[in-house]
Amino acid sequence: MEPMLITIDGPAGAGKTTVSRMLADRLGFLYVDTGALYRGVAFEAALRGIDPEDEKALGALAASLALRFAHTESGIRLFSGENDITDKIRTPEITMLASAVSAKPVIRQALLDMQKRLGQKKAAVFEGRDMGTVVFPDADVKFFLVAALEARAKRRFLEYEDAGSQRFEDVLEDMKKRDENDSSRAIAPLQPAGDAVIIDSTNLAPEEVVDKMMDFLRSRQN
Ligand code: DC
Repeated sequence: MEPMLITIDGPAGAGKTTVSRMLADRLGFLYVDTGALYRGVAFEAALRGIDPEDEKALGALAASLALRFAHTESGIRLFSGENDITDKIRTPEITMLASAVSAKPVIRQALLDMQKRLGQKKAAVFEGRDMGTVVFPDADVKFFLVAALEARAKRRFLEYEDAGSQRFEDVLEDMKKRDENDSSRAIAPLQPAGDAVIIDSTNLAPEEVVDKMMDFLRSRQN
């Protein structure tokens, strides 16, 4: 397949990460998880005891942060400065904090520039919330994944279950809250681009979603 920039947006738990990785793999393209960047900011804010409502402190943090992805033997890792923070950004606390800091314009602006730089690569799959609407409005192909709330919460619950401790009701409640935050924020709210291909993954396995995407990409080439 010719090099192109593909965006995959959608709410939490719609299967974006699994599907984006698989699609990038099949195409031999770069995979960029932009949610990890918001999580990286949240992690550093928590480490420094910064209140997510303190925009001045968040601005200073954003200006001083050195987040980058690195390809290592154990896959793509997120570094903050010299520290590999990949395994520290998926806790329920950082997840909620990421949603809070992602509503702040200073943070979105700082990450916007960074994502645009990464997008110069062209043969890439970018996963996020505003990839097709704000960051790459001229992307070659835009997908928007949706799924029923219960199905999304169940997927997230099963992921957490490996780590122990969470109740399904709490995961469902957190997800509802996060949907609400991400869709109602004033800046870059979660919504499909006008030219996005919408795929409902409620009753589909990740492979089936990727098959649909591949079919669409092939149909475009003819
Ligand atoms: O996809 P994720 O769960 O790792 O994203 C973490 C948070 O970051 C999520 O609450 C929404 C936010 N986010 C965003 O606002 N814009 C993006 N492009 C990616 C994520």
